[in-house]
Amino acid sequence: MEGQMTNTDAWDPARYGTFGAERRQPFDDLVAACRAVPGGTVVDLGCGAGELTVDLHTAMGAARTVGLDRSTRMLDQARALGAPEGVEFVEGDIATSTLLPADLLFANASLQWIDGHRELLARLRATLRPGGQLAFQVPANFGHPSHLVAFEVAAEAPFAAALADDPPKNRGEEVLQPAAYAQCFYDLGATDQRVWLTVYHHLLASSAAVVDWVEGTMLTQFRSRLDPDTYAAFLARYRERLLGVLGDVAPYFYTYPRILAWARFA
Ligand SMILES: C[S@@+](CC[C@H](N)C(=O)[O-])C[C@H]1O[C@@H](n2cnc3c(N)ncnc32)[C@H](O)[C@@H]1O
Repeated sequence: MEGQMTNTDAWDPARYGTFGAERRQPFDDLVAACRAVPGGTVVDLGCGAGELTVDLHTAMGAARTVGLDRSTRMLDQARALGAPEGVEFVEGDIATSTLLPADLLFANASLQWIDGHRELLARLRATLRPGGQLAFQVPANFGHPSHLVAFEVAAEAPFAAALADDPPKNRGEEVLQPAAYAQCFYDLGATDQRVWLTVYHHLLASSAAVVDWVEGTMLTQFRSRLDPDTYAAFLARYRERLLGVLGDVAPYFYTYPRILAWARFA
């Protein structure tokens, strides 16, 4: 609607946290691949609401862990946690912030929001201290109807016109194949590495719950670009079309492939 502000910070810690247990599984798997950095420095890129940053800090035995995020709302929640000494939260953009030299750069479910992964990984690698590690997890479910239907609806009137100046793109266009990440690590001089794809699966109460899931993540790029009324209409149309594809199923078995990648450098 004319005159109404769009919500540029569309992240909502409560909504994102609804599926906290499910979203935690890949985090735990990625942490398990990392080597502890006793007394070292960790940077958690796209730290979100911070709970996992604190767990990462403890698991790695770090002296200092910096959570970086560009969402004020997520950071407000993180700062309200009462994090232990050594953990701090900083506002900044992964794509442009100067990062402090780290023993571990860690990114769980955040790098898919950044363009140009080859250049990004090279930049991250350059900020690592000797013997440093880079670890990230990115979704690989961009071909699932939960994602595709959103872009089909975005191409319909009136949404196409409302999004024309800054159209969101399916972030799967930026996520590389697992083998390409392994090649990047090799090209950047990794001395040890592991890249793997895991199909996580979540038994949701019903197919309608998929809408709640993606509202916490993928749909933020539509919420941030549309005024509230247009976003509400977009969401209603998305729900209708998605359930048309998935059926009204209870419970719903939601498959969720993810790429996990870890490397250590000289
Ligand atoms: C799906 S959440 C993951 C949060 C946390 N890592 C976790 O695993 O719970 C993605 C987070 O990345 C942040 N993010 C997205 N793009 C970013 C960017 N360019 N710079 C900094 N943070 C970004 C979002 O604000 C959001 O908090």
